[in-house]
Amino acid sequence: MRIAVIGAGYVGLTTGSCLAALGHRVRCHDIDGGRLARLARLDLPLYEPGLEDLVRRGMADGSLQFCLGLEDALEAAEAVFLAVGTPALPDGEIDLSQIIASARAIAPRLARNAIVIVKSTVVPGTCRQLADLIARERGALDIRVASNPEFLREGAAVGDFMEPDRIVIGADDVQAAKVLEEIYAPLARRKVPVLSTSCDNAELVKYAANAFLALKIGFINDIAELCERIGGDVARVAEGIGLDRRIGPSCLTPGPGFGGSCFPKDTRAFAAVSRRAGAPQALIETLIRRNEERKAHLGRRILNEAALASGDTVAVLGLAFKAGTDDIREAAALTIIPMLQKAGIAVRAHDPMAMALARRHLADVRWCATPYEAAEKADALVILTEWDDYRGLDLARIADRMAGRMLFDYRNLLPPEAVTAAGLRCIGLGRPAAP
Ligand code: NAD
Ligand code: UGA
Repeated sequence: MRIAVIGAGYVGLTTGSCLAALGHRVRCHDIDGGRLARLARLDLPLYEPGLEDLVRRGMADGSLQFCLGLEDALEAAEAVFLAVGTPALPDGEIDLSQIIASARAIAPRLARNAIVIVKSTVVPGTCRQLADLIARERGALDIRVASNPEFLREGAAVGDFMEPDRIVIGADDVQAAKVLEEIYAPLARRKVPVLSTSCDNAELVKYAANAFLALKIGFINDIAELCERIGGDVARVAEGIGLDRRIGPSCLTPGPGFGGSCFPKDTRAFAAVSRRAGAPQALIETLIRRNEERKAHLGRRILNEAALASGDTVAVLGLAFKAGTDDIREAAALTIIPMLQKAGIAVRAHDPMAMALARRHLADVRWCATPYEAAEKADALVILTEWDDYRGLDLARIADRMAGRMLFDYRNLLPPEAVTAAGLRCIGLGRPAAP
């Protein structure tokens, strides 16, 4: 099938290159010409394992093209995916301006009877709103708008797209549903479950799924705090509850509060739309507040437990919101580093992937090429991202360089005994502090 993808970020680029690999002819367009120019010379603007390979293969066999001109991208396209950003407004409501602008731009240029498919995460009712807008702009009713939410995780995007737990097709029209079924037929043949439903339901599935996963994380973080007070071990508790197949083991790892470009903004948008609809989501409202409090609480904990004073130094290992990505959006580091700085603490930081982006958002940080350089004369060290690189740290070498003894392992990455053996005091999450 001839497919156009509008927006070449994490989702658009993954969608475009994976659909090309599944046998479709795909043209990607982005409003950012610089991004397209980089893509055309295979210089990917984001880090995603396996993606560069797929893009290279698609470009080589001609199944994947990047088009500067919107007309080129849309030429004879039977299906057009919208994968532009849907960030949060300051009041938490969804900002639909990118998706509305892209719908307005494509409307007069769409091939007759093309299906527009909303891949971006949007509040229920958006597909209907876009269908009205496109009909008005074209002065015709030939275009159907469908919903096809995306469930991929950054850092695992290609695998998640090619082997999803399910594909959700939201269409209020038989023809639109058929087009989506045809697009995903190669995956359906591999026994991926396909849920066909209305646009509103599909849009709601996406928000409800993200909210539920975020609730699991918020829940285990609260259990971790309880464990710290009563002497439990959150890892054993998570294992014990996760073995119940009705609960499952995923999203039960405690951390410094969830971040990223999705859970924080999607829970806020979900709460806002629910409030507006007169069905406030009390669990989600509390979750959002608790998650922010957690980041600040863990920042204060460093200051208090290491008894830090103005002029001291903290080494921060890990800036990305999770391992496997260079994305720092809503990362715990963005709350904790400014907190430390406000208390007069000098920060030395390292991240294997995210330093280039972090430099744009954090000032007055000493950026270090290695974790060992970051540890130099540090009064305390904190791990914020669960990078594999940090699992294999030479702890004796770290301890040697540090001035203080406190290591805050906010990802429970290191065996506490190994930290203790290196002469450091390990403060993890949800387990008794090592001596
Ligand atoms: P992104 O910011 O990485 O990419 C969005 C792209 O859209 C940018 O390259 C931007 O230049 C482009 N764009 C904006 N307006 C445009 C326009 N009018 N025409 C053409 N291009 C335009 O965002 P993303 O992470 O890919 O997310 C996109 C959507 O997918 C969001 O709704 C997000 O919530 C959702 N989503 C993201 C993930 C994820 O892991 N990142 C997973 C599932 C769903
Ligand atoms: C998340 C969802 O997992 C995807 O299914 C969804 O498609 C995506 O949001 C989206 O809608 O955009 P992502 O943000 O890439 O994907 O990352 P996750 O792996 O889910 O992690 C999100 C945050 O939660 C990270 O800060 C991570 O460290 C934290 N987390 C995750 C935990 O603290 N504990 C866990 O057990 C899992």
